[in-house]
Amino acid sequence: MLEKLDDLFSKFNESLESVKTQAEALNLKSEVLGKKGSLSEILKSLRDATVEVKKAVGPKSNQMKADIEKLIQKKLYEIEVMAINEKLANSKIDYSLTDDNLEKGLQAAGVHPVTQIQREVEDIFISMGFDVLDGPHIEDEWHNFEALNIPETHSARDMQDTFWFKDMKHLLRTHTSNIQVRGMEAHKPPFKFIGPGKVFRCERTDTTHEMCFHQLEGMMVGKDITVGNLIYFMKTLLKEIFKKDMEVRLRPGFFPFVEPGFELDIRWKKPDPKKGESEHSGWLELLPCGMVHPNVLKAGGIDPEEYNGFAFGMGLDRLVMVKYAIEDIRHLHSGDLRFNKQFSVL
Ligand code: FA5
Repeated sequence: MLEKLDDLFSKFNESLESVKTQAEALNLKSEVLGKKGSLSEILKSLRDATVEVKKAVGPKSNQMKADIEKLIQKKLYEIEVMAINEKLANSKIDYSLTDDNLEKGLQAAGVHPVTQIQREVEDIFISMGFDVLDGPHIEDEWHNFEALNIPETHSARDMQDTFWFKDMKHLLRTHTSNIQVRGMEAHKPPFKFIGPGKVFRCERTDTTHEMCFHQLEGMMVGKDITVGNLIYFMKTLLKEIFKKDMEVRLRPGFFPFVEPGFELDIRWKKPDPKKGESEHSGWLELLPCGMVHPNVLKAGGIDPEEYNGFAFGMGLDRLVMVKYAIEDIRHLHSGDLRFNKQFSVL
């Protein structure tokens, strides 16, 4: 009887080695330990055995039953781990941009036209010796308003115009002019830099207004800077972007952080969605600018008796509209790939 048990155990081990799936393991378990299994058959025959045999076989068969159960559990666990590893190995994500991705159209919409124009403007200013600076989207009152000579009573500070945080001390920046302040804090004159980025205003949207749009700030500080310098840089920029001399005009414009302040308008043909470019030509307000107010220089730690400068802040979305004759600014933020694809540059 004991030999039969040993024989059964070694056959079980042999069969276990060739088991590949959890179902096979469970079948083997029931073949050996099940009601009609081989171990049960041996134990049944114990009924007619002598007491000595029963004493010897009983504990041995119990031990064997426990061993077989353990070995089956171990096998089930190994099979599960193998299955998980196999799954992981086959589900690796390939993050690389491959030709295959391009063929499937995953990247077909390319770089957004606002990003394209931002890069274009950056290149133009870099070639004229400007640095490119960055600034935070979440700003404090000092950098967005106070240092820019914007008084507490100014309408831009109103809840209706600005996205304030609960503490009423931080806000989503309303313009890129915060980069002027941070740029002055970090540099000693003479310097010239630009600062592009997203800005946020609590606006009612229409064909030329968005709540989240893009501006590009510029500042030049040094000795004896004039309005002539300002106009030179602005006209050079517009000529490079539109690939022709652009007709511009300067109108007086009020911004608390410049004195004198101007609105630089360009002559454009307002696009008619039905007829293409309309014959009607008008002036489009594109680029507010001016000579930096002495209070702003002081707030930036610069002596206005020694240095002066100019600053400007243009709307990049509006620039895209003029360049590509787009009649509604909201197309730019629609996320419609058919729109974006028209400007596809990878
Ligand atoms: C300003 O934001 C000033 N900080 C700009 C400035 C900088 C003036 C330095 C002087 C010196 P303004 O609010 O006008 O100015 O906005 C600048 C440009 O952003 C506008 O000319 C326009 O092109 C664009 N813009 C303004 N509001 C919106 C809007 N809701 N949607 C899209 N573009 C807008």
